[in-house]
Amino acid sequence: MLNNLEQQPADALLALIKLHNEDPRVDKIDLGVGVYRNGQGDTPVFAAIKAAEKKLLETQDSKAYLGPEGDMGFVHALMPYVFGKDDPTKGGRIDGMQTPGGTGGVRLAVALAKRAGVKRIIMGVPSWPNHAQILADLGVELKTFNHATKDGVVDMDALRAVLAEAGEGDAILLHGCCHNPTGIDYSNENWDEIAGLIAARKVLPVLDLAYQGLGKGMEEDAYGVRCVLAAVPEALIAYSCDKNFGMYRDRVGAVYVMVSDPAQLGAALSNGHALARAAWSMPPDHGAAAVRLILEDAGMTKLWLDELDSMRTRMNQVRARLAAAGKVGSVDFAALGGQNGLFSVLPLNGEQILRLRNDHGIYMAGSGRINVAGLTMGNIDKFIADVATVAA
Ligand SMILES: Cc1ncc(COP(=O)(O)O)c(C=O)c1O
Repeated sequence: MLNNLEQQPADALLALIKLHNEDPRVDKIDLGVGVYRNGQGDTPVFAAIKAAEKKLLETQDSKAYLGPEGDMGFVHALMPYVFGKDDPTKGGRIDGMQTPGGTGGVRLAVALAKRAGVKRIIMGVPSWPNHAQILADLGVELKTFNHATKDGVVDMDALRAVLAEAGEGDAILLHGCCHNPTGIDYSNENWDEIAGLIAARKVLPVLDLAYQGLGKGMEEDAYGVRCVLAAVPEALIAYSCDKNFGMYRDRVGAVYVMVSDPAQLGAALSNGHALARAAWSMPPDHGAAAVRLILEDAGMTKLWLDELDSMRTRMNQVRARLAAAGKVGSVDFAALGGQNGLFSVLPLNGEQILRLRNDHGIYMAGSGRINVAGLTMGNIDKFIADVATVAA
């Protein structure tokens, strides 16, 4: 039977990483992989994480099983950042559980939505490719709409149109901030309108917050989530700490459930526990425990927030420098200045992307997505000049 399994295509980004690693050119530039890079091109462990790991090593006295919900201290410590300090549980209507990364959070949110009766999930495209894969794997129908227009702004008309024909039994999956891959986010005014539309159509929001703090700031990046939650009776929220704590391989995430009746919260979450138990039993502990230690300690929290600030500042500098280059052949870098987070998409075709790779050692996804954190003050002029050559 196993001999009959068909070869599956390799993950395109992982294949790109391999090609980049094998390229001997010293001035090659990796804009493919989705991790933050500092001005030296490195992805270092946060100093706050190092401090927390040291403390964990000294104080952790057991590795006994926790449970499918994982480290609830971690889950609760994050809540004021996501839902606001005033009433993070919204009167006992929100609670969550730890998941293996934001991916585990999205997976569980979609599986919970399906269990609750959702048949179809509406999602803007392009999106993080794993969103569609998760929906397909769980057998949930996907209905797409254009996330952005050709002019590089959110396509509110497409969103209004798709919601106009949506109703009960539908969910909508939205990126909380730092849209992957476009970097094109909803404004606060857009969110206000979206929240109203979702509430009016009785569509279940599934909000994916994977880059909080990497856009405009921790509070600012939570606007969309908080605004939608204020308007609707129930929602699912997937969260990743893998980018804003630099924990990628340690798989730190959570899923939160908001119900309308606090008395039903335990029952709703027990479905999450059952789904997790059957899938991964319980999430890996280490990363979430380290994040919890940071959030429980004012000094370490400040260290973490300062590191996050410096990451955001660096990415904004790169974006400002790109924007200053303006129109370079058919690519208008000016638009990238107003976009958020790690990613943007350049309007390049397959041949141009291949020429950048073969002739200039510049690696980017086949979709034209670039990780702006792959650019430094040392390589950005070369990058702009090389794009000018192929996009002329
Ligand atoms: C939009 C989005 N959601 C969720 C994730 C999942 O992140 P992780 O599973 O690494 O925590 C990512 C990662 O790239 C993402 O871009």
